[in-house]
Amino acid sequence: MATPTTMLTTETKTDRKIDTKAAPRHYHITTFGCQMNKADSERMAGILEHMGFQWAENPDEADLILYNTCTIRDNAEQRVYSHLGKQAIRKQEKPDLTLIMAGCVAQQEGEALLRRVPELDLIMGPQHANRLEDLLNEVFQGSQVVATESVEIMEDITKARRDSSVTAWVNVIYGCNERCTYCVVPGVRGVEQSRLPEAIRAEMVELGKQGYKEVTLLGQNIDAYGRDLPGTTPEGRHQHTLTDLLYYIHDVPGIERIRFATSHPRYFTERLIKACAELPKVCELFHIPFQSGDNDILKAMARGYTHQKYRRIIEMIRTYMPDASISADAIVGFPGETEEQFDRTMELVADIGFDHVNTAAYSPRPNTPAALWENQLSEEVKSDRLQRLNHLVNTKVAERSQRYLGRIEEVLVEEKNPKYPHQVMGRTRGNRLTFFPGDIDQLKGKLVQVKITAARAFSLTGGSLDVVSGLRKAIDLSRFE
Ligand code: SAH
Ligand code: SF4
Ligand code: F3S
Repeated sequence: MATPTTMLTTETKTDRKIDTKAAPRHYHITTFGCQMNKADSERMAGILEHMGFQWAENPDEADLILYNTCTIRDNAEQRVYSHLGKQAIRKQEKPDLTLIMAGCVAQQEGEALLRRVPELDLIMGPQHANRLEDLLNEVFQGSQVVATESVEIMEDITKARRDSSVTAWVNVIYGCNERCTYCVVPGVRGVEQSRLPEAIRAEMVELGKQGYKEVTLLGQNIDAYGRDLPGTTPEGRHQHTLTDLLYYIHDVPGIERIRFATSHPRYFTERLIKACAELPKVCELFHIPFQSGDNDILKAMARGYTHQKYRRIIEMIRTYMPDASISADAIVGFPGETEEQFDRTMELVADIGFDHVNTAAYSPRPNTPAALWENQLSEEVKSDRLQRLNHLVNTKVAERSQRYLGRIEEVLVEEKNPKYPHQVMGRTRGNRLTFFPGDIDQLKGKLVQVKITAARAFSLTGGSLDVVSGLRKAIDLSRFE
């Protein structure tokens, strides 16, 4: 969609137009934040390579530097500025250095960034990632460009430069329509925009042809997939849902594993759980943030569920898939959280048996309701609670990891173990990092049966038994028929 870009042309900038046909220029991208940003960076790298740029491992040797930024918590935002400050100084000696700030800080701060860091050439929000070439062409004409207005996200036209040749991210829905009172995401990522099922499938077919084996479907609230697409079924539900999408893409040749994230407890359905149990390629792994174990805090967060509902979801998943991996996010020290309310979060973690939990102390964010409330907690209380929660999480996760000991797990081999080159590493269906002896040249991209001989909190070690030729699904569905 052609939407005008805010363009700020200054005299000084027009003095140093860049001849893009000269010697190859090098680029470096530093990515902060979530999988969404990682996926955007891979697409932007693809666009830059299509434009003739070459990757520079060392940012200090690059002619173009792009920071793809995160603002979920204050410390994430500050990290960006410390990196950027260093390159802004380098630009004083190398005026043809192109500096780009993309992602969520760019969207949040917009034009104000130009006052803070006048060396920036381009400020672009996440919705503009696929437009990088057009925006850069404006920069190379001598403009300082700010692209933060909300747009309809265009389909990719350029092939992404992906970090892995085995696993790939595929966006299915951009943005978020929720209004969790602590969260910047809806403000910086905009309203939900689902990609068409045909476009998602086409991208996966291409990935399958290129030899990719695993795809993770991405959305901030992936259960919202399809709500914004036209069409309803005779029963009155949206025609396109995540569940329908899973059935639609499941048979893409070459792709052997499918994952998805992030799930919202408010919209999680039994239909989705059944699909996951039924479809052999869909991994038994659910990332469902609960944020708090206390109902009043959940209400203040505007999450739209109770801890009882959360527990019921996990029970239902385990009825269909007893061994499913469950991971989550949690926030401690939300405004007004009492010691008793914090204990409810500890209880939930003690009860569920999570495989992984991302924990964070609440951080007040610009333009979010909770940041304005007066009942903020002190940093001491927040960090004390965070420490206590982390301690419990680590103990529980290590306990849960023990169930793998002595078992045979299917591992998709991704890389060499950087510490021990005679070992390879990959992930189980439940997403545990697993190391075992083997030759990466023979095993990369292969599914291998591995006998687990050591289980730590975050990784496993084993010995290979067999390279799997076909798929094996460990779930017996006949129990539910
Ligand atoms: N869409 C996902 C989460 C996206 S943000 C969901 O709905 O759960 C990733 C995680 O960052 C959140 O799950 C939350 O735990 C954390 N987070 C978001 N805003 C935060 C804030 N202001 N302070 C601390 N943690 C925050
Ligand atoms: Fe943020 Fe809530 Fe949207 Fe998740 S669902 S991205 S926490 S507003
Ligand atoms: Fe951060 Fe933006 Fe993701 S704020 S967590 S990079 S959506």
